[in-house]
Amino acid sequence: MFAHLPTALVLLLLTPSTFASTLSFHLPRADQAAADYTKDDLFKNTILNVTNTYRKQHNATSLKWNDTLADYAKDWSEKCNFEHSGGPNGENLSSGYANASQSIIVWGHERVDYDFKKGEFTHETGHFSQLVWKATKTVGCGRTECDGQDNGRAPGWFVVCEYYPPGNVIGSFIENVQAQVPEDEQPEGPSDPDVPEEEPDAKECPQGGDCSGAASMSMSRWAWSAGVVVWVVMGIL
Ligand SMILES: *[C@@H]1O[C@H](CO)[C@@H](O)[C@H](O)[C@H]1NC(C)=O
Ligand SMILES: *[C@@H]1O[C@H](CO)[C@@H](O)[C@H](O)[C@H]1NC(C)=O
Ligand SMILES: *[C@@H]1O[C@H](CO)[C@@H](O)[C@H](O)[C@H]1NC(C)=O
Ligand SMILES: *[C@@H]1O[C@H](CO)[C@@H](O)[C@H](O)[C@H]1NC(C)=O
Ligand SMILES: *[C@@H]1O[C@H](CO)[C@@H](O)[C@H](O)[C@H]1NC(C)=O
Repeated sequence: MFAHLPTALVLLLLTPSTFASTLSFHLPRADQAAADYTKDDLFKNTILNVTNTYRKQHNATSLKWNDTLADYAKDWSEKCNFEHSGGPNGENLSSGYANASQSIIVWGHERVDYDFKKGEFTHETGHFSQLVWKATKTVGCGRTECDGQDNGRAPGWFVVCEYYPPGNVIGSFIENVQAQVPEDEQPEGPSDPDVPEEEPDAKECPQGGDCSGAASMSMSRWAWSAGVVVWVVMGIL
């Protein structure tokens, strides 16, 4: 009966989304929430640290916290609607990651897919180009534990970041999004970037979407195991 199993596994590997779309998924509960989500100071410091680490590496000056933007971001995150707010600022969204640090790292990680010579907007790299956009000077973010599970709400912690002046201005990518510069040529500022060495696996940030990644990844992993169980049971019957 286990002769069926390898075929089953191949089929499952080829079609995880079929299973993912019909099954619910698990996310960290609020009582296990990372401190950089729950504590205001830590949240702000984490956002600035990760953001400015990437900016430094791409020869952009550090962003300062902007409370007007942060208030706006907080208000939008409370709606738990994983869509752009349609406001006047640059805006990146992240949902379902284990901590605030990871929510921003997945944006920075998009740099592996960015073509610095072409200098163009793409949906796969739009968070990254906003993150390191030279003409942007301030950032403000908000987050809400939405706990959406198959109910249309953003999954897990929903992070909204607003940027002013906004980046991703068509026609200005070449001068605003610079390739990584050697450490001794990076702008003055805090040293010892601690982000790039622990970049997430590319799979954690699926391409082609708004990078609501963690949610969809943990969902399909769960679905995958559930699928295996189903196939094993069918094989036995
Ligand atoms: C980020 O935090 C680390 C550890 O506190 C610090 O060494 C580093 O300078 C910070 N980086 C930036 C860009 O703020
Ligand atoms: C903060 O962001 C707002 C846009 O919401 C902008 O008008 C304001 O100038 C920014 N503050 C600073 C210090 O750049
Ligand atoms: C990230 O923010 C920028 C600026 O608002 C926006 O143009 C871009 O679409 C966002 N990235 C993605 C992938 O949504
Ligand atoms: C944040 O989450 C990531 C991914 O789960 C993990 O690798 C990392 O260690 C966490 N960082 C902190 C500061 O807890
Ligand atoms: C960093 O950017 C500044 C201005 O945007 C530019 O003058 C300088 O040459 C750049 N440094 C490197 C190492 O490319």
